[in-house]
Amino acid sequence: MADPNASMSGSLNHAMIDDVQARRAQEFADRFGEPGFTDPTQLYIEQRYEGYTPENQETWTTLFDRQMAYLADNASQTYLGGAKIINLRRERIPPVESINERLKPLTGWQSRAVPGYLKPKAFFACLSRREFPTTIVIRPKQSIDYLPEPDIFHDIFGHVPLHADPVFADFLQTYGKAALLTNDPHHTERLARLFWFTVEFGLIRENGRVKIYGSGLISSPGESHHSLNSKDVDRRPFDMARVCDTAFEIDHYQPILYVLESFEQLRDSMNSYANMLLNEKRPAAVA
Ligand SMILES: [Fe+2]
Repeated sequence: MADPNASMSGSLNHAMIDDVQARRAQEFADRFGEPGFTDPTQLYIEQRYEGYTPENQETWTTLFDRQMAYLADNASQTYLGGAKIINLRRERIPPVESINERLKPLTGWQSRAVPGYLKPKAFFACLSRREFPTTIVIRPKQSIDYLPEPDIFHDIFGHVPLHADPVFADFLQTYGKAALLTNDPHHTERLARLFWFTVEFGLIRENGRVKIYGSGLISSPGESHHSLNSKDVDRRPFDMARVCDTAFEIDHYQPILYVLESFEQLRDSMNSYANMLLNEKRPAAVA
């Protein structure tokens, strides 16, 4: 999730990023929303694939193997199917363009490399265009178990497989449009909670079993297991209003999670929310 207070420190020193291009993109991101700073394509950079080191590739393979071993039986079939469709492979960090070639005909979603965190409105503007801002650096080997900020393993392995699913794809774009549209802090907070409890930490019931689909769970070895097995987690049935009323905490395993019955439930709830926001935006009819 985009964080308005987060910095992009560190990212520019990686060889897969062109420093000049990245600085320009980040300056644009920091001013996003000002006159002349509204085009999301200016936020994007190239993934200089040759910049990944053998150690970077090894980190990807280690993370991939460890997580897939658990997810094979515990992640949503929609996630697992999407990972196959976009050809996520254990041997290599994914080239973003090869993923995009596979996504394009299915849902039109595309992953776009960005230099660091984006302000919320910039992030939502990308989602509203079916473009997913993607971190392209990978965590250092010595931090393989814990990274406080997203990296390519979180963003691609964690998020992107669901973008191959037409229902989730529609939900995420509608979410982006709604979040871009509203400037009401009440709704902004509610939408941030919705993102947290679905896109990042969502669970779903499939064939009578609770499975993982949120990227924060998918990409976290410790929390994926904890989310399904701990007695300390309150797994509640998904209810849009209740989700949006629930505050979240970011610095420890989630004590509350919400379980969808289907991705259609998520998409339909989001459509209702977006329609309500649109109606609020329209001037009241003259009697
Ligand atoms: Fe995320």
